[in-house]
Amino acid sequence: MSRKISRRTFAKVASTAALASTATTAFSSVASQPSASLDMSAPATGREFPKGFLWGSATASYQVEGAVNEDGRGPSIWDTFSHIPGNVVNNATGDVADDHYHRYKEDVQLMKSLGVKSYRFSIAWPRVFPQGAGAPNSKGLDFYNRLVDELLANDIQPFATLYHWDLPQALQDNGGGWESRDTSKAFGDYAGYVAEHLSDRVKHFFTINEFGAFVELGYRIGIHAPGLKLPPGRFNQTRHHAVLGHGLAVQAIRAKAKPGTKIGLAENMTICVPIIETPQHIEAATRAARELNAQYMTVIQEGKYTDAYLAAAGSNAPKFSPEDLKIISSPLDFVGINIYTPTYVRADSSALGFTVVPQPKSYPHMASWWLSIGPEALYWGPRHVAKIWNVKEIYITENGCSSSDVPAPDGIVYDSDRVMYLRNYLTQLQRATADGIPVHGYFLWSLMDNFEWADGYTNRFGLHYVDYASQKRTPKLSAAFYREVIARNAVA
Ligand code: NOJ
Repeated sequence: MSRKISRRTFAKVASTAALASTATTAFSSVASQPSASLDMSAPATGREFPKGFLWGSATASYQVEGAVNEDGRGPSIWDTFSHIPGNVVNNATGDVADDHYHRYKEDVQLMKSLGVKSYRFSIAWPRVFPQGAGAPNSKGLDFYNRLVDELLANDIQPFATLYHWDLPQALQDNGGGWESRDTSKAFGDYAGYVAEHLSDRVKHFFTINEFGAFVELGYRIGIHAPGLKLPPGRFNQTRHHAVLGHGLAVQAIRAKAKPGTKIGLAENMTICVPIIETPQHIEAATRAARELNAQYMTVIQEGKYTDAYLAAAGSNAPKFSPEDLKIISSPLDFVGINIYTPTYVRADSSALGFTVVPQPKSYPHMASWWLSIGPEALYWGPRHVAKIWNVKEIYITENGCSSSDVPAPDGIVYDSDRVMYLRNYLTQLQRATADGIPVHGYFLWSLMDNFEWADGYTNRFGLHYVDYASQKRTPKLSAAFYREVIARNAVA
């Protein structure tokens, strides 16, 4: 560096030059051409994923579809909740969202240009059964027939989630939604019906997305639909009905789907990361992974609630029969895990043998306050699932982040923080596959910006920027990054 240029000026000039070159190349094919001196097409040693690794992207019905009153769709608890002033930032609703219901063909082309080979979407229960149960609405199911056909025509495998939080309002009104066993039963029936009609083309179904979010936030903390704050006994029973609904859905899909259909779930487990990778802390993190997920993943995998969970709940423990536990633990073909943040754990001398290490105030997070950065969560999450429960097929069903995402004057969103986040997380996922942990695929959340629940449209998670006024989708810098990862089948 010339002594005439200060370090600061150098940094400024260098970053401006980098920005200019990114602007001209980030979205052109030139970016992926090898340069004369460096063969970028050669795989970067040690950064490749296994051959056939399935790269995908994800969305969910209420967050993208809009068209809430079309083709006989019934209201969901999210329609009701978001229309109550004060529940969602800026009183936003999913009435229009990304208008994906009408623009799905355009959106499939976005996937195609990324090079993804799979798409995880969810089916809106109230489109198929407007009242939750009873007479199905064939026009509602037709939308998913059209979407699935379009995906397959573009060589993209459909992965369908049956419940991503848009419970038919009628089930909430009659019996209190998941507070009632009738909802578990209705969910099983709906799941079987959908599998019967789509499994000629959809080969992978997820029953429920994130028990750990919709039950906790919707029925205990009250910041998601249906906005309840149930007392502990009723709340633990609600948790139980959710896992029971999952088990009934597994059985119904098995009974109705075409042979070869695979069934799993997509759960946001608490991801227990050993604070330091020593045998003691690893052991503690493994114990913690069972206990801190006792109410959902552990009971699903083991067919029993842990003693510690039942003891801590005391007289508020859920009421259940041995038959319930058998249903809940119906065998699965694969496990999906949604992973965003780590929970650091250390060994201690308590009865459980672990303790959670609190995050200091300065701990870094992305635009969403809860989204603490911890790339190694993408290593330890699948490793725990494989080692504790001997699961042979794992998918990362969500991973991604929010960023402030402001378009630059040239119209491009230079979300370098999202690229940093993804690169580091994928590095840890690659480590998992290199260690032989059977992760078969990865679905990036999200294909495009969308309705982020109680945050409305303020927190953006997309690879594509959505201008909600015009519905124009524009690829961000992170879309170019992900395209490169997929093309190389390696961390780029
Ligand atoms: C998990 C949820 O499944 C999804 O709906 C949500 O948008 C993302 N996390 C980001 O918060």
